Amino acid sequence: MNRHTYFSPGSNYFALSLVFFSFQFDYLKSLEIEEKINKIRWCQTANSALFLLSANDKTIKFWKVQEKKIKKISKIIADPSKAVGNGNVASSSNSNSPKSFLANGVSPDRSCNHLGNDISFPPGGLPSLCLPVVVTSQETNLVARCRRVYGHAHDYHINSISNNSDGETFISADDLRINLWNLEISNQSFNIVDLKPANMEDLTEVITSAEFHPAHCNMLAYSSSKGSIRLIDLRQSALCDSHAKLFEEPEAPGSRSFFTEIIASISDIKFAKDGRYILSRDYMTLKLWDINMDSGPVATFQVHEYLRPKLCDLYENDSIFDKFECCLSGDGLRVATGSYSNLFRVFGCAPGSTETTTLEASKNPMRTQVQSPSRPSRSLNSITRVVRRETLGVDANGNSLDFTTKLLHLAWHPTENLIACVAANSLYMYYA
Ligand SMILES: *[C@@H]1O[C@H](CO)[C@@H](O)[C@H](O)[C@H]1NC(C)=O
Ligand SMILES: *[C@@H]1O[C@H](CO)[C@@H](O)[C@H](O)[C@H]1NC(C)=O
Ligand SMILES: *[C@@H]1O[C@H](CO)[C@@H](O)[C@H](O)[C@H]1NC(C)=O
Repeated sequence: MNRHTYFSPGSNYFALSLVFFSFQFDYLKSLEIEEKINKIRWCQTANSALFLLSANDKTIKFWKVQEKKIKKISKIIADPSKAVGNGNVASSSNSNSPKSFLANGVSPDRSCNHLGNDISFPPGGLPSLCLPVVVTSQETNLVARCRRVYGHAHDYHINSISNNSDGETFISADDLRINLWNLEISNQSFNIVDLKPANMEDLTEVITSAEFHPAHCNMLAYSSSKGSIRLIDLRQSALCDSHAKLFEEPEAPGSRSFFTEIIASISDIKFAKDGRYILSRDYMTLKLWDINMDSGPVATFQVHEYLRPKLCDLYENDSIFDKFECCLSGDGLRVATGSYSNLFRVFGCAPGSTETTTLEASKNPMRTQVQSPSRPSRSLNSITRVVRRETLGVDANGNSLDFTTKLLHLAWHPTENLIACVAANSLYMYYA
C-alpha cells in the first residue's frame, strides 16, 4: 500500500478490506456453487487503482478497487506494542460500527460465519501496521467494481489463480486443468495443462495449486496430490503436459504406510520473491525446494509431528484432507504455516538458522487451554495480536488439541515482518 500515499500510511485498512471483499465480492448464487470466495490475488496497479482477482469454485472476477475519500481517521496507534490490547481493539469496534470500514453499506453480518478462504497483502504491502483506533468518519468509500467475469472455463473447482509478471495474463487452475487468460479478454482462455485422462478411472493425480514465477513470465509451477511439483515453460509447447522439471521427494525405503500418499498431497505452493525457491506444504511438513535442484527439497520442516500417531483418527474424520496454506517472508529467510488449535509455526530457513516458533492466533493472551470457537461473533472485532506460545508441551500429548480450530489461511506482508492469519471468524496480525 505504500505506493499509494492517499491511503493513510500505516493503516491496516487493507487487511480489513479483505474481510469486506470476502463478503461483498459476490459469490455467484446458485445451488451448485457455494457462496464463498476461494482465492484472491492482488494484481499490478495502474493509475493509482488497485486490481484484484477473485475466484469462487467456477468463476473468476477482476475487480478495480479505488478509494474515493477518507475523511478522517482521528487516531492511529503507531506503536505496535500498544496496538494489541483487546480493550483497545474491541472498544474501537464497538463504539464505531465495523461498517465504518465497509463501503456501500455492506453489512458484515451477512452470512458472516467465517472469513473468506484466502488472504493476501496488497502489492508493496502495508508500510507498518497501525490500527486505526477511532474512525470518526463513516464515509470511507472504498469502491470495488467488477470489471470482468471470466466464466465457463472450469469443469472442476478452481483451486488457484495467479497473476503473471507481464501484467497482462493470469492463470486459473482446477483439479485437472490450468487455463491461461488475458486480463482483457474474458470470453477466451487457453488450456495449458490438462491432466484429464481419456478414462476417468485412470486418474491418479490432481492439481492442487499453481503459481506463476515472480519474474519469468513464461514459467509457472504447479503441485499435485501425489506430492510432486512441476515447473513448466510456456515457450516449449502450447500444451505443457510434458513438464520442464519435476520435483519430488524420493520415498524413504520402508516408510510406506496406508497414509503415505494422502499426507504427501501438496496443499499449497509459493515462490520466494527471488524466484529461486519454492515453498510447499503437505499435511505434515513444509518443504523448501531450489528450482536448480530436483533431487529433493533443500529443507524440510516438521509442522506437527506429534500428530503422526493420530493419522488414523484424522483420516476417520477427514481432518487429514485439510488444506493448509504456507507463506514466505519478503526476504525469503523465514517461512510460516498453520496447524490445529489455531496454532501456526514460523521457521527460519536461512542456512544455519534454527528458528522455530509456535504461535497461537488468539484473542485472549492468557488463554492456555484452547477452546472450540464459540458461536461466530457478529462483528469484525478481532484484530488482535497473536500471542507467543512458550512451548508446544500443552499439546504434545494431543489432549488439548482442538481439530476444529484450524489455521488454514495466512499471508506474509511483502516487506515487513508481519503475518496475517485467519482462524475461525477472526483475522489476526502477528509481528514476527
Ligand atoms: C502480481 O501482482 C502483484 C501486485 O502488483 C505483484 O506484486 C506480483 O509480483 C505479481 N505477480 C507476478 C508473478 O508478477
Ligand atoms: C469474444 O468477444 C469479442 C467481443 O465481444 C468477440 O469479438 C470475439 O469473437 C469473442 N471471442 C470468442 C472466442 O468468442
Ligand atoms: C478428528 O479426530 C481427532 C482425533 O481423534 C479428534 O480429536 C478431533 O476432534 C476430530 N475432529 C473433528 C473435526 O471431528
